Parts: sequence; structure tokens; C-alpha cells
Amino acid sequence: MKILVTGGLGFIGSHTCVELINRKHRIVVADNLSNSNIETLEKINEITGVIPDFHQIDVTEESKLEELFNKYDFDGVIHFAGYKAVGESVEKPLDYYYNNLVSTIKLSEMCLKYNVDKFVFSSSATVYGDNKSPLKEDMKLLPTTNPYGETKAISERILKDTAFANTDFAVSLLRYFNPVGAHESGLIGEDPKGVPNNLMPYVSKVAKGELDKLYVFGNDYDTVDGTGVRDYIHVVDLAEGHAAALENLNSGVNIYNLGTGKGTSVLEIINTFIKVNEVEVPYEIVERRPGDIAVSYADTKKAEKELNWKAKRNIEDMVRDSWRFELN
Ligand code: UFG
Repeated sequence: MKILVTGGLGFIGSHTCVELINRKHRIVVADNLSNSNIETLEKINEITGVIPDFHQIDVTEESKLEELFNKYDFDGVIHFAGYKAVGESVEKPLDYYYNNLVSTIKLSEMCLKYNVDKFVFSSSATVYGDNKSPLKEDMKLLPTTNPYGETKAISERILKDTAFANTDFAVSLLRYFNPVGAHESGLIGEDPKGVPNNLMPYVSKVAKGELDKLYVFGNDYDTVDGTGVRDYIHVVDLAEGHAAALENLNSGVNIYNLGTGKGTSVLEIINTFIKVNEVEVPYEIVERRPGDIAVSYADTKKAEKELNWKAKRNIEDMVRDSWRFELN
């Protein structure tokens, strides 16, 4: 298939480009480079032997999108482009609502206009709010705690309503759990600008000595060791999940959790990182982080059954591959 990948040079986007190329799809990347690097294009080439067509555009800009849809006869769109920092979204809500919602609306309009009938969307487990794990796709969604999460919930609704009103337009809403790890080549991975917000990139920077220590946000949750529990998923498994979602997308609205179904605590992540990579990770327990929930992990049965997809990589693989990328 010929696929438009928005945000295709970002963390999850770049790994998905590699997977799609490996499966012989033809991809066109649109990315404004606001949180990604043009060098990733060459890295994708090193891994796959293919350089995707690249357009440095902002997908909120209708005229730029129109040129793209005119030029290529797309079979589908995978929409990754978006702002994703929870804390920043609280400080700049309008930027988040504008960027994340206008891009979804404009891309959907172009799909209807140019008869592109497959749309795969980057959603997030954050839409479940404080529901009790294991989280299931048909649960009633609870309010999210920040504008970023709200943009994911509203985008899901926009795409659902559009697919209900246009029966030829099929959407797949992928709710990611906690993506970590990197491609095993060590060439592409997660490279956040500034001090990382998320656990794994922070641990990597501490192990490397670029940050003094890790602050563990609370050890008084009702969990195995008191620290927060999440469903970490290797980014290459996640990329395979996107390809499976695209290839199985035929009609209607399809919602899938992309996780492993297994919860891991912050201390378990730290200890596995230390053991597998033979490094030190100094840490200190501090107050809970506002907005955090105790436990989040997926029910993965629906994706396994309907997409014939299952995450294969374990926590050891995740910490090893994250560290390899950090050292590169
Ligand atoms: N944590 C620490 N110290 C840190 C960073 C994180 O102790 O420096 C803890 C958190 O309290 C939490 C766990 O590590 O228990 C994971 O935190 P992350 O920030 O890595 O991930 P979150 O689960 O908070 O958030 C992620 C994505 C969001 C998404 C959410 C959906 O970053 O984009 O999952 O569930 F909305």
C-alpha cells in the first residue's frame, strides 16, 4: 500500500516506517521536525535500504496537505504527528488543542476528498483515565487529567463520528501503553529534547551520568513495591502493531490496546536496567507526581484475536535496547 505517515521521523513514527518498508509498503513521510531530526531519514535508509519520500510540512496547513494528496494516490494514512508532553500541555493548552485537533480534522477532510479510506490514529491509554486495570477497549472512558490526554480523547471522537457518517472511511484507534526501547541496530530511538519527562529516557540519562539521579515519584501506592505500575511495550512491537492494524483495516471504527498486558513497577524497571546493562542508577524516592495513577496495564485479547498481533519483547529487551541507543 502507499501510506502517508505523519510524524514519521519521531520515536514511534520512525520505527513504524522501518516496519512498513520491511513489509514492502511504499511510504511518504510528512513531518515538521518540531520534535524530530532530519538525520533519522538517513538512519531509516541505513536500516532498510530505502529512503522514504519526505516532505517537511505541518499537517495543520491545509494547502500543504492538499498538494500532498494531489501528488500521491494514498491508500491510507497513519497519523502520529502531534504534541505529546503532558506537563507542557497544562502550560500551553491552546497550542495542544490547535495542533493535535486541527491536524486530525484536516487529514480526515483530505481523506474524504481524495477517497483515502484507511486512517490509523495514535491514541493513548491516557483516555481510560482512572479506570481499573486490566483496561479494555469497550470500557466507558473517564476524564483525562490534562489537555494532552483530552486531545487524544477528542481526536478519537472526531474520527469515530467521521467514520459513522462516511461508511467508506475506516479508522483504527490505537491506544498505546508505555512505549520504550529502540531498534536493535541502535540507530533510531527516543531522543527527547531537554530533560526527559518519561521514566526510561530519564533512567538512561542518569545511567550515562548526564543527570545526577532519578526521582521516583511515590512509593506509597497500592502496588507490589509501592511504586507506580505501567505496561511498558517495546517500540518495535508497537510498530508491528501498526502494520497489523493497517493491513487488517477494512471498515468501521476499530479500537485496539497496544500493550503487553503485563504491569511493571518503577523499581522493577530500575533494577532490571542495572542488572542487564551493568550500570548504576542512583535514585531517591520523592512525592507522588500530580495526575499520576497507581496502575495501568492493558487487556490485550482484542488485538491478539483480530489483528493476530502480540508483543514479543520483554523488559530485559526494552532496557537493553534503550541503553544501546543512548550509548550511540
Ligand atoms: N516516573 C518516576 N520518575 C520519573 C518519571 C516517571 O518515578 O522521572 C514514574 C511515574 O510516576 C510512573 C512511571 O514512572 O509511575 C511511568 O511514567 P512515565 O512518565 O514514563 O509515563 P506515564 O505512564 O506517566 O505516561 C505515559 C505517556 C503519556 C500517556 C500515558 C498514558 O508518557 O503520554 O502514558 O497512560 F498519556
